[in-house]
Amino acid sequence: MNIKKIKTTPHEGQKPGTSGLRKKVTVFQQPHYLENFVQSIFNTATGLKNNLLILGGDGRYYNKPAIQTILKMAAAHGIKQVMVGQHGFLSTPAVSCVIRKYNAAGGIILSASHNPGGVDGDFGIKFNISNGGPAPTSFTDATYECSKTISEYAIAEADDIPLDNLQSYQLGDMQVSVIDPVSDYAEMMMGLFDFKKIKSLFTSGELSICFDAMHAITGPYAKEIFEKQLSAAVGSVINGIPSENFGGGHPDPNLAHAKELVEILNSDSNAPDFGAASDGDGDRNMIIGQKFFVNPSDSLAIMTANANLIPGYSRGINGVARSLPTSRAVDKVADKLGIDCYETPTGWKYFGNLLDDKRITLCGEESFGSGSDHIREKDGLWAVLFWLNLLAEKQQSVEAITRSHWKIYGRHYYSRHDYEAIDSEVANSLIENLRTISSSLTGKEFGNYKITLCDDFSYNDPVDSSVSSNQGIRILFDDESRIVFRLSGTGTEGATLRVYIEKYESDASLHDMPTQTALAELIAIADSIAEIKTRCQRDSPDVIT
Ligand code: G1P
Ligand code: ZN
Repeated sequence: MNIKKIKTTPHEGQKPGTSGLRKKVTVFQQPHYLENFVQSIFNTATGLKNNLLILGGDGRYYNKPAIQTILKMAAAHGIKQVMVGQHGFLSTPAVSCVIRKYNAAGGIILSASHNPGGVDGDFGIKFNISNGGPAPTSFTDATYECSKTISEYAIAEADDIPLDNLQSYQLGDMQVSVIDPVSDYAEMMMGLFDFKKIKSLFTSGELSICFDAMHAITGPYAKEIFEKQLSAAVGSVINGIPSENFGGGHPDPNLAHAKELVEILNSDSNAPDFGAASDGDGDRNMIIGQKFFVNPSDSLAIMTANANLIPGYSRGINGVARSLPTSRAVDKVADKLGIDCYETPTGWKYFGNLLDDKRITLCGEESFGSGSDHIREKDGLWAVLFWLNLLAEKQQSVEAITRSHWKIYGRHYYSRHDYEAIDSEVANSLIENLRTISSSLTGKEFGNYKITLCDDFSYNDPVDSSVSSNQGIRILFDDESRIVFRLSGTGTEGATLRVYIEKYESDASLHDMPTQTALAELIAIADSIAEIKTRCQRDSPDVIT
């Protein structure tokens, strides 16, 4: 096999964000763009040579050519074996599972998660390390440094590898094994949850579900697990065939984008009892009941409070973690259970150390992500199975479980307001201004609210002592309310300002307000402090979750 050394020059802006490098497909299609970044990963991940690499993606447009390029570069780099998902498919949680199961040196995931796909959509690439989790910032910084000076990459001259059959091939000295993307993952789920009990809910007709795969990667997983193994009615999985542009949709499981599912669960006749959806690469989840939405921050709290009922967690949980902007609902549960609760910056990579060090068992983010120590990524179908197992144990509806949780722990009204595609300079100066005025805000009163602390969140990792600063402006009020401001690290167009608003209500007689009404005064305070409307020239957020 001939290995070609190709001369190249650096591409600007190959700095990974919250979750890998995400750009428009057209950016990735520029000559040497993908190759430069992949070579930078290989140069940084010194353990890959002579070792096993896992490779797969969410099936979006450009997945297929990218996989062939990466395989040829892996062979040129001296990687011993690549396990690649059939058709190039592997969900993000499945990559994490397979890395751990087969002791791989790492994995490459091709996905831009919930961002739209297609010729004009987004593409992304992310490297996961040998613990199965996203590479830490020290690694992604090193990759970025490498991409700034790269002058050459190596690639094997070979034919494309067929990815349709479960078969092994040789690419020079490297073995390429095409694996079933579902089976290892499904087997792991079987070990965590009471499949027998969940199955009897379906076979007895007690429970009906609708799972919306949003034309993305979880379709094949959900059909196998829900319809085949758990005997949910055929047709319980909708939009279950992965498509390169996600059926033209936006594969983000929230009330704004999973409209079809929401309509089904809101319908007056024949609505299923339980609804759920997952995103492009299968790591996010949304849980809904009949005419009832479970806020993801509440979902994490409810899972933590009831983990003792689930076989995989009945031994007890070590601790929990949530990202800064995630509501503090889980903190109340941790308090009661007497376990530690960690607050990390946004992004799953910060949970890895805490999980590896056995400080936490469960973790989650407000952005429809939750997971546990079973892998090192958030896991959409895992969360759905957790809830199904909970329904089987409690014999209550989604709404009843959530309401009784609020009764015990109080309710955290919570919402995120996103202002998308705003001018980057405007966004940066808005945050910069907040940073400048933050210390002077402490002690100030706004209507019924008094600020007890305002700062730019900085995280000291208790395991490796690394410090991550400038992670978001947080404003804490004396009644446990909070506002957090930060800029997205995953967008591909201009900047996205995220404003997170939270209000705690312990009185159960006040748990029935519409969320935006309960938060109205805090929303106005957020605007007056940050001057969002005037600075961004926007009347209202683009997306409210
Ligand atoms: C967003 C979410 C964050 C999540 C990430 C990857 O990042 O807010 O919680 O970990 O996507 O799914 P952001 O765009 O806010 O940087
Ligand atoms: Zn995702």
